[in-house]
Amino acid sequence: MKILSIVGARPQFVKLKPVSDALSAVDCEHIILHTGQHYDPNMSDLFFEGLGIPAPDLNLGIGSGSHGKQTAEMILGLESALVSSRPDWVIVYGDTNSTLAGAIAASKLNLRLAHIEAGLRSRNRSMPEELNRIATDHLSSVLFAPTNIARQNLEIEGLGERSELVGDVMADLLFSLEPMITPPPFALVDALNSGEPYIVATIHRASNTDSVDRLNQIMSNLVNLERPVFLVVHPRLRAALAANNVQLARSRLTLLDPVGYLDMLGLVRHSFAVITDSGGLQKDAFLLGVPCITLRSETEWPETFEGEMNVLSPLGENLVSLLTREVRRPDSKPFGDGMAAIKIVQSLISQI
Ligand code: UD1
Repeated sequence: MKILSIVGARPQFVKLKPVSDALSAVDCEHIILHTGQHYDPNMSDLFFEGLGIPAPDLNLGIGSGSHGKQTAEMILGLESALVSSRPDWVIVYGDTNSTLAGAIAASKLNLRLAHIEAGLRSRNRSMPEELNRIATDHLSSVLFAPTNIARQNLEIEGLGERSELVGDVMADLLFSLEPMITPPPFALVDALNSGEPYIVATIHRASNTDSVDRLNQIMSNLVNLERPVFLVVHPRLRAALAANNVQLARSRLTLLDPVGYLDMLGLVRHSFAVITDSGGLQKDAFLLGVPCITLRSETEWPETFEGEMNVLSPLGENLVSLLTREVRRPDSKPFGDGMAAIKIVQSLISQI
């Protein structure tokens, strides 16, 4: 059996890891195709090397660009790679432009297409990721839903018959890495100079970074916090901060370059709270029992609201009171039992 995974952006490398491990345990050739959407070493190589994922068999090197240009160039490159390799299954992950390009290229070639992390819906169609999710789900032959709510979303759209509730592959990885999570690198502790509880923050959504007003409001709310804040900076945010000349002087906020996944889990697990617009980080915080504030007006992971573990604050308003809210770590396991990738591989094998 030949399976081809298409990835390109940072969160997809994290989702690929447990699937790659599960595939290596069965009799199967696994080809990894990287679109090149993320190309900085700390956005890509750091994840392959840090997580021990086999290097991609092919990197298309597409890089950044407008949505149309980036997606179109990916489709062209993917089409010829798929024609020459003719896999039994193509797997796409999550909701990036690499996901959509992979879904279009594979489905037009009538290849069997599996979507991992299917059925998520934010109901905000102005997000490029929401459009990517909807289109990819409708093009796929089998839909692997990470949660019950995601499975129900697929039912509502008439996709129930093609969908399977398997659990979340990111939770698989987090559970397997949990024993290896260490406190954050000591350089950070030096920066703090005390054991004071700190906050981890990330901002990378286009809706937050590309609007000067929104970015200024969010940054001003972070800068005014009296606690130490470590802002892990995506390249899109770094460019936006420089372009808008955002002032951080005299604040307790420290900018950090992107870190590997295990270091990020270390930062989160030992933090007081997470403030983010990332989908994956909302879930990581939930699974590690750390309260989260989400800088958006909706989320595609409503399971994280349980016990008020996650709350929405689109512009970082009321941060001080939200940071001191009571939370309750739920006993439920909405993201599965850590076996999602194994269930996915079994399902793919049974459908050849
Ligand atoms: C993409 C995904 C988003 C995901 C995020 C994770 C889409 C539509 N969005 O957003 O769902 O949460 O990845 O990071 O696919 N850049 C670099 N170096 C890199 C990559 C990007 O400098 O290695 C800069 C470029 O200026 C680029 C910008 O970041 O234009 C945005 O990159 P892009 O891949 O278009 O989207 P992300 O914001 O990373």
